[in-house]
Amino acid sequence: MSYFRPEHTPLVDGDPCVVEDLEQNIEVADGVVVERRSVLWLSVAAVTAMLTGNGSLRSQEPAQQDPKRPPKAATTSSKLSFADFLNQLLPQARRLVDSKSEDDQAYLLTIAAAMSRLRDPNAPIRDAMRQFSKDHRNEGERFPIGAMAMNIKAGRGLTHHDHLNYNGIIMGLEGEVRIRNYDFQGEPPANDSTKTFQIRETRDDLIKPGRFSSLGRKRENIHDLVAGKDGARVLDVFTFFARNATSRYLELDDKPRDKEARIYDATWKQRRRRKR
Ligand SMILES: [Fe+2]
Repeated sequence: MSYFRPEHTPLVDGDPCVVEDLEQNIEVADGVVVERRSVLWLSVAAVTAMLTGNGSLRSQEPAQQDPKRPPKAATTSSKLSFADFLNQLLPQARRLVDSKSEDDQAYLLTIAAAMSRLRDPNAPIRDAMRQFSKDHRNEGERFPIGAMAMNIKAGRGLTHHDHLNYNGIIMGLEGEVRIRNYDFQGEPPANDSTKTFQIRETRDDLIKPGRFSSLGRKRENIHDLVAGKDGARVLDVFTFFARNATSRYLELDDKPRDKEARIYDATWKQRRRRKR
């Protein structure tokens, strides 16, 4: 028995999602809820505050240590608060973005390793994010890191979409979600084009708690997600390479044009005009 919908059946018929537009507890697709304002827009002042120990990620902070005892040295086996995680991630994200490299595989593996060390990855992060944003938000900068938790109802998910100018890594927290990844075959046409282009399926993964799915800035930049019979909860971490980083939805033919190579014909899903 399959818990999933038939292959490549569109689950929703909405507008393409734009990560920067995510808001608190917003339903980004039918049955897919992003937990309240959890995308980070960190300012330089905020990062400085974190690095100097003045951050406000209170709900994820470790318990107060006895001031008479020397602080414990961080080890590779120690657990990370969310603030620890960001402190480790930020300089690496900045280096990657500055390098303009399209090879982000090692970086994504590093993020996965750090995510697997989160003390409580399933803890609500919204309060920490809200307070942090309130305390430190700066005008103008698009910070390179974003993180959010997403709840997906049984059998629901996100149809095929890409991640223009950003990469991402997903860790399963609860339930299970099927995630398929695809490569563009060559350069796709402009987003307002109705021309057909091809994408190739490269992965078909079942993500359960503690397991990872990743997509690079170029590698396997397209995916779709469908939750299993008990739904799913996942933690997403994104790295943005440009201010215009966004997602665009695709329409796929039900059947591959090349079954053996799993190559599909696709077109961009056009935005629906809003009725006035
Ligand atoms: Fe995605």
